[in-house]
Amino acid sequence: MEVVVVDGEEKAGLVVADIFCRALASRERPTFGVATGGSPLPTYAELIRRHREEGLSFAGASAFLLDEYLGLSEGHPGLYRTFIEEVFAGGVGLPAERLFGPQVHGVRADAACAEYEERIERAGGIDVQLLGIGGDGHIGFNEPSSSLASRTRIKTLTQETREDNARFFGGDVEAVPMHVVTMGIGTIMEARHLVLVATGEGKAECLARAIEGPLTARVPASVLQMHPHVTVVADEAAASGLELLEYYKETYRGKPDWQSC
Ligand code: PGA
Repeated sequence: MEVVVVDGEEKAGLVVADIFCRALASRERPTFGVATGGSPLPTYAELIRRHREEGLSFAGASAFLLDEYLGLSEGHPGLYRTFIEEVFAGGVGLPAERLFGPQVHGVRADAACAEYEERIERAGGIDVQLLGIGGDGHIGFNEPSSSLASRTRIKTLTQETREDNARFFGGDVEAVPMHVVTMGIGTIMEARHLVLVATGEGKAECLARAIEGPLTARVPASVLQMHPHVTVVADEAAASGLELLEYYKETYRGKPDWQSC
C-alpha cells in the first residue's frame, strides 16, 4: 500500500487525476469506478479542467458507479447517477451510455445487482477504482459488519451515514434513503488499482484504523490491506492519526522514477 500525504484537498485531486491520466494513456478502453461524496470532488474538477484546457480525452473510457440509492424517482437530484453526471461525466465528455450504475428503476433490485456484476465483468473489470472512506470505515456503502467477500447487493445505511449524507438532501436526514445498492467488498477488491481519498480531520481516526489497525469487517476499509495495488491519498489532517506518518512521507519523497503509480 502506498500512502501519499499531501498538503490540502486540491493537491489530493492532482495526485488522483494523474492516476486517471496514466490509465487513460496506457489503456485503449480504460474503466473507472467512480465514487460520490465530497472526497473525490477535487479530482473530478481537475479532470474536467484537463479535459477543457489540455484536451484530456475520455474517448473509449467507461465509468461505473460505486453505489446508488434505492427509492428515489428517476432523475432525482440525489441519485448518484445524477451527481456523477454533473460533477464528472458531463464535464469530461463521457456519454451517458458509458456511465454505468446499478439499475434501480423498473426492475427488481436483486436482479439489478447480478446484472451489474455481469456488466462490470463484460467490460473486463475495473482498472482504477476511486474510493472515499466513511467515518465508520465504510467503503462504497459497505457498512461495518459487511462481509469482506460480499458482491453487489442491497444494504441498509447506518444512521451515522444518513446523517453524513443529509448535506446532499438539503440537510434533511429523513430525505436520505435508508436502502442502497452498493458494489460489494469482494467486487471492489477485484479492481486492479484501488485509490482511496481521505481529507479533513474527521477522517483521521477511521483512516488510521483502516490502514494500521487489524483487518476486520468492523472497519470495512481495512480490507485494502489485502489488495496488491492500493494508493491512499490523504491530506495532513486526515493523515494525522497515522503512526507511521513519517515513514510514508519519506517513502514518497524517495520514490524512484521507475516505480509507477
Ligand atoms: P465523503 O464520503 O467523501 O463525502 O467524506 C465518503 C464516504 O462516505 O464514503
